[in-house]
Amino acid sequence: LPTAVVIVAAGSGTRLGYGMPKALVPLAGAPLLLHSLRGAAGAGLARQVCVAVPPGDTELTELCRTFAEELGDAGPEITVVPGGATRADSVRAALAALTPGTRHVLVHDAARPLTPPEVFHRVAEALGRGAAAVIPAMPVVDTIKSTAPTEGEASAIAAEVVTGTAVREQLRAVQTPQGFDAATLLRAHEVAAAWEPEQAAAITDDAMLVESLGTPVYLVPGDLQAFKVTTPMDLHFAETILAAGS
Ligand code: C5P
Repeated sequence: LPTAVVIVAAGSGTRLGYGMPKALVPLAGAPLLLHSLRGAAGAGLARQVCVAVPPGDTELTELCRTFAEELGDAGPEITVVPGGATRADSVRAALAALTPGTRHVLVHDAARPLTPPEVFHRVAEALGRGAAAVIPAMPVVDTIKSTAPTEGEASAIAAEVVTGTAVREQLRAVQTPQGFDAATLLRAHEVAAAWEPEQAAAITDDAMLVESLGTPVYLVPGDLQAFKVTTPMDLHFAETILAAGS
């Protein structure tokens, strides 16, 4: 079925501390976005790849244009849109630019440059089996606790206190690309566009919007190499993986 990949690349990259959008940060000599574009196009599933770039960007837009030229007619159509203030806003902007008739959408973080093609394929295959939402996931290695700020006298001891411990065997760390029936994802984002700012600020992936519609979200295995580049250590790790593979 007609499939598009959305790549969200409109983040500021503040935590990486490079003073440039994260998608522009070089990894083995090429911007993160170029690695993600190659991965998304190379998986061979998409007839369109739509990239959300920071508003006012010229460099990432130019990179997409050059990449599209290199691909020529052999590759998917590359579309660039200005992203928004939040990741969800950026996804929404990209969804509005999808070619009519798109049935499946895979939403992918530019910040996961080493995601193997197998992950794209596992997600797409589960969509093909009839799922409306599919996400790649990994077991959690750390024990995860919920917390609250301390109050009163306790705040002299520490800033936070534990309120509970989740059952680790039931937890998964989720990655991208997250795959959706296009109409379902559009509806989920339309509903979330009306959420209160506080609720909207807590949106960290697309699947949670689809969950809130009551639609089942299915899991397929992710991959260690689909990790998100967030900190300088992650970038170092990515460099090491690439160097070891070449
Ligand atoms: O900030 P975080 O690492 O969770 O961002 C995940 C992805 O969402 C990144 O690829 C980033 O570029 C993208 N993003 C975006 N628009 C925003 C914020 C984040 O496209 N406003």
